[in-house]
Amino acid sequence: MTIPTPMLAFDSIRELETDLQMPLYAKRDIALVRGEGSYLFDSEGKRYLDAMSNYGVAALGHADPVFMAAMADQLSRLTTCHQSFYNDARAAALAAIRQIAPDGLTRYFTSNSGAEAIEAGLKFAMMATGRHNVVALRRGYHGRTLGALSATFDPKYRKPFEPLPIPVTHVTFNDYEALAEQVNEETAAIILEPVQGEAGIFPADDDYLRAVRELATANGALLIADEVQTGFRTGAPFAITHAGISPDILCTAKAIGNGFPVGVTMVTEAISEKTVGGAHGTTFGGNPLAMRAVVTTLQAFQDRNLYARSAELGDRLISSVEALESPKIRQVRGRGFMIGVEMKERITPTLRALQESGVLALPASPVVFRLLPPLVWEEEQVNEFIGTLAKVLA
Ligand SMILES: Cc1ncc(COP(=O)(O)O)c(C=O)c1O
Repeated sequence: MTIPTPMLAFDSIRELETDLQMPLYAKRDIALVRGEGSYLFDSEGKRYLDAMSNYGVAALGHADPVFMAAMADQLSRLTTCHQSFYNDARAAALAAIRQIAPDGLTRYFTSNSGAEAIEAGLKFAMMATGRHNVVALRRGYHGRTLGALSATFDPKYRKPFEPLPIPVTHVTFNDYEALAEQVNEETAAIILEPVQGEAGIFPADDDYLRAVRELATANGALLIADEVQTGFRTGAPFAITHAGISPDILCTAKAIGNGFPVGVTMVTEAISEKTVGGAHGTTFGGNPLAMRAVVTTLQAFQDRNLYARSAELGDRLISSVEALESPKIRQVRGRGFMIGVEMKERITPTLRALQESGVLALPASPVVFRLLPPLVWEEEQVNEFIGTLAKVLA
């Protein structure tokens, strides 16, 4: 029997995925097969403006020539190298991470996904404090492996697997008193997203974040910033630094590999000293191909001024959506290229109409659609998006 080549017609693609994949995902009725810059193409050749970068991943857009050349070079040199050996690409990636890490976060663990970065962060927090309890926020999303799932709020994800391995209390977002009531000398960590993503793009107040920082320190608990989604897209490498603070542990993924799966957990020297060899590990984590992706992506963010540019264009995107004054829109919120548009009705028809009109955006809740554009969007893409949204809402 022959194995099909990937260049299939849509009907075959849909049939194979429907028949063979576990039915875990609600599917959108197109097959994306190619990308170029800020645009994606489906199996029928239709072009879409990418306003989602595949859930915040493709920060440099698609088929970026610099990224392709670096990855091809690395493919020709070495793709896999366990962390028990030294490697040049990994060393360079760690140095690049050092340059963007918030103050005090000087030691790094590299893995393969957001959930893994969180999983490691929770384990390191438990090890460093000798405590088990974690306080997380309502509506928070931290991934779906069992440890990360313990911190994720949505009962729909949690219920089938309870009891979950980590005792986590969830408190109201942006409510300091509610948090202070739950944090004590038995708390290993407070975990939060500086801007809640999956929940519908809810930014935490800077004052709140500063108070949380002090609360954690006062109780000997660690502050874990989940920057898996916020990382690199709020006008700075990390969103928590807008509040002028550093966490004790920072977890990131998505954009840092520009499509190559990478998770990074950053910790302080003090935490690192308390984690013993063998306490955690991964075969694929820190592999040379992933590390080359990190080096190349972080270098491109810097060379192309993408933090400042996406912050500026993000502001313009928010004000342009507001300026449409659509009676269907309740609120537009976010920071940089992480934007939520809350509607007064369910978003599915709008997302579908955008897709039919050649724009791909994401849901964030039943009434919020989300924009996570590639950071390489220019004014032209902002205008194209606004023009299409105006037509769709009319
Ligand atoms: C804030 C946050 N944390 C963790 C995760 C989990 O990341 P992954 O899907 O790569 O496991 C996500 C994914 O959407 C996320 O948005």
